[in-house]
Amino acid sequence: MLSLAILGSGKGSNAGSIFEAIERGDLNAKVVCVVSDVEDAHILERARQHGIAAEFIDHAPFKTKLDGEAERRVIDTLKSRGADFIALAGYMRIVKSGLLEAFAGRIVNIHPSLLPAFPGLASWKQALDYGAKVAGCTVHFVDAGMDTGPIIVQKAVPVLEDDTAETLHARIQMEEHVAYPEALSLVASGRTRIAGRRVHISVEE
Ligand code: GAR
Repeated sequence: MLSLAILGSGKGSNAGSIFEAIERGDLNAKVVCVVSDVEDAHILERARQHGIAAEFIDHAPFKTKLDGEAERRVIDTLKSRGADFIALAGYMRIVKSGLLEAFAGRIVNIHPSLLPAFPGLASWKQALDYGAKVAGCTVHFVDAGMDTGPIIVQKAVPVLEDDTAETLHARIQMEEHVAYPEALSLVASGRTRIAGRRVHISVEE
């Protein structure tokens, strides 16, 4: 069973989809803690509603990365809670070598585009502005790059004629809530094997 820690900065709908998949028995994992870099992020409240330990950790002085003393605090917190795997769920920071080494090959992220298209911020808006006809989401292992690690699951979402950034993001999020538990379930059941850029998925026994 995966002992999961979730890191997030926002409303926590993806974290919610993970809690619910576990509660339904669709994902063989336990969430041991949720950590946020935003003190009033709804993800913390959502975790507490599910009886999960939730902690704010101040990431100052850094604004866009997890580094230095904050990185040490996050690693210590996750280890002391018994986490063996990390899911980034709307965590709006770059993770650096300290966390990557402490949890080598055991960090995944969800990104709101079909990578490698539209890495970075507000990817649904990037897709709309670019004129893409298909958008989507990606769950991938995390490496030292930005949104570059090996891909586990992707889901496509059509861009509709009358879409706004908000409506497109909302439909992408509906797919995210399926994709993230699905990807974690593949990892939890030992069905993923990384070979270079590719994540091979073995068939269910
Ligand atoms: C999600 O759409 C996630 O893909 C995105 O932030 C949102 C968080 O929503 N992540 C990124 O853009 C990371 N670069 P949530 O807090 O409701 O899960």
